[in-house]
Amino acid sequence: MSKSKTFIVEHLDPELEEWSSLEYAAIASESQSAGVSFFLSSVPPALKLPENLAGVQGLQIEHRGVEEIYHDKKASVCLLDPAAKEELSPEDGDRFDVFLFGGILGDDPPRDRTSELRKKGFEGRRLGPVQMTTDTAVRVTRMIVQGRKPVPLDKIPFVDNPEFKVDDHESTEMPFRYVTDGKGNPVMPAGMLDLIKKDSERGFGDLL
Ligand SMILES: C[S@@+](CC[C@H](N)C(=O)[O-])C[C@H]1O[C@@H](n2cnc3c(N)ncnc32)[C@H](O)[C@@H]1O
Repeated sequence: MSKSKTFIVEHLDPELEEWSSLEYAAIASESQSAGVSFFLSSVPPALKLPENLAGVQGLQIEHRGVEEIYHDKKASVCLLDPAAKEELSPEDGDRFDVFLFGGILGDDPPRDRTSELRKKGFEGRRLGPVQMTTDTAVRVTRMIVQGRKPVPLDKIPFVDNPEFKVDDHESTEMPFRYVTDGKGNPVMPAGMLDLIKKDSERGFGDLL
């Protein structure tokens, strides 16, 4: 069995929106179940964590940035980067100990804010050509590199741009790729569907 990995989300947004807090809580709970470490790095000391994240099991808060933490072990860190040339493979589980993600809300069209981490010089791997939410990217990476039975990227079931009914008349499309569960439904953090409905009532604005 491969050695247990560390998953780090470098929080890059100035605030910690409800969307991110639901994504981070889902990553924490899945990391705990999978027996892997999950760090949220670059968290400003003055930032008050939302209630659902304060003290949650499976989440370790780190005020330092990833560049400072791994300054002498950069080669052990793999940046999950939508612009990388190589796709992540199960063999990368032997090569890297740490998997790094941008703590960025998805945007449509994508603004390539992952470049903020790319320019720090970490080696990058892609998870296919379509933008995923941060929790999906972590979930997919864990499936590929961690555990007894690594699953190659092309064997993971996905759905792109799923539509959700927000009321009797309207539905809204989420412009991301998600892993599907046994019934073909997108796997999403607890509470996300309600938040999508709530935000669609007042317009998504920058939250996509
Ligand atoms: C919601 S995505 C942000 C993408 C964003 N539009 C940007 O500006 O880069 C959050 C993080 O998930 C990871 N990610 C999402 N889709 C990915 C993909 N197809 N390949 C590799 N990493 C991905 C990256 O680490 C990215 O920083």
